[in-house]
Amino acid sequence: MPSAGQIVYYSAVVAWSAAIYQFLIKDLLSVSLGLGRVIQSIDEFPGYSCSRIQHPQLEACEDLWLDERDRTLYAACGGTQSRMAWNPSISLLNASGRRISGSEFLAIDVDSFGTNGFFSLRTITPTGSFGATGEPTLDALGFSAETIDDQTIHFYFANVPPYHGSLFPASQTGANASVEVFEFKRGNTEMSHLRTVQSPAIWSPNRPVALSDGAFLVTNDHGAKVGWRKQLEPLIGGGNVAYCPASGSCRAATPPPGLDIRKSLKFPNGLTRGHDGLIYVPSSVDGTVAVFALQPDGSLTRVHTVRVGMPLDNISPDARGDLWVPGFPDSRQTMKGLENPYEEVSPATVWRIKRERGAEGEVRNAEYVLEYEVEKVLEDREAKVLDGVTTVVHDVKSGRLFMGGAAVPFMVVCEPRV
Ligand SMILES: *[C@@H]1O[C@H](CO)[C@@H](O)[C@H](O)[C@H]1NC(C)=O
Ligand SMILES: *[C@@H]1O[C@H](CO)[C@@H](O)[C@H](O)[C@H]1NC(C)=O
Repeated sequence: MPSAGQIVYYSAVVAWSAAIYQFLIKDLLSVSLGLGRVIQSIDEFPGYSCSRIQHPQLEACEDLWLDERDRTLYAACGGTQSRMAWNPSISLLNASGRRISGSEFLAIDVDSFGTNGFFSLRTITPTGSFGATGEPTLDALGFSAETIDDQTIHFYFANVPPYHGSLFPASQTGANASVEVFEFKRGNTEMSHLRTVQSPAIWSPNRPVALSDGAFLVTNDHGAKVGWRKQLEPLIGGGNVAYCPASGSCRAATPPPGLDIRKSLKFPNGLTRGHDGLIYVPSSVDGTVAVFALQPDGSLTRVHTVRVGMPLDNISPDARGDLWVPGFPDSRQTMKGLENPYEEVSPATVWRIKRERGAEGEVRNAEYVLEYEVEKVLEDREAKVLDGVTTVVHDVKSGRLFMGGAAVPFMVVCEPRV
């Protein structure tokens, strides 16, 4: 006979898991899969006129960064064919289908960029010796930039090449992940390699963000490189943020997935540091942006959660400090679109998240009192123009939006209609 205490204990466990289960399943169906979601058509957003820009070099530009000072848009582009074979974060691990030359890093003159085909574009070649073969090749996912002075920018790339000369197929090993740091002088066509950061704390890097003096944070978008657990992560959580000091070893900055799976990061994607100094981590599963305060020891304390309500990708601040992030209103289509962007569409949404007010000093229910305005700026149910978007940057000066996608063979520019 179980004791009364045991009965109470087991009932509590059952009630607890039932509550969590209900919450999770509901969340999984409505937020992650988007069942029952009403997706709007691009025609319902007359404020912008959007068009695609086709160019052989502007394929699969997973991430973008706008240098407003120099009026230059930087893009890391992997090539559509190549990304259909090699995209470790979504378990596409056919190393022989990957482009040997890896990704291309491009600088686009933003003021000339448009559909007329006469924009100026130059390739920035990485120099130096890094990687297994010593050849300066990048397999870039997300990247970010740190402005050092008037001339100098440091670029931080999440790099995911296949292992070189491995006896095991990439489907078993995953990628040989690292973060690669480069120094670049504005206007140049080369960037020189500064350092490779490889660590057991970085296994599935998605996007690094520089802090200052060479320290950075990077999201691991999954809890494992390969394997069955990865498939369960939408439910149980996985992935984290790692902190790497300028020298010394990297370590986890967020706690590992715990018993309360609601609190675990789920597919944390391209993070950023806001103008307010807080760290913003979007989720490609649960549709939230987790807001963290960086502690002096490099760890992150969760201070707020912005609920956008659909899976999100890379988040980018504009010159005013507003955050721009693309969403996947139909994530099942998005998965198909990532695997085969020539035949499947991936409807897209563009969100703007604006910090309204709130002081970091004020705390209620263990969260800072922060307020954000979340606004849907664009949505394209049929993916008529916006398709497979994984990053969006806003040019405050012209009001234009620039978008790239991890797999699609084009970029998108949206012009505000005045
Ligand atoms: C991997 O890519 C190569 C080159 O594109 C292709 O021939 C091969 O069929 C692919 N393998 C798999 C398992 O899809
Ligand atoms: C993995 O990457 C590191 C850092 O770039 C490199 O030194 C090493 O040789 C690579 N290993 C293999 C087996 O590719």
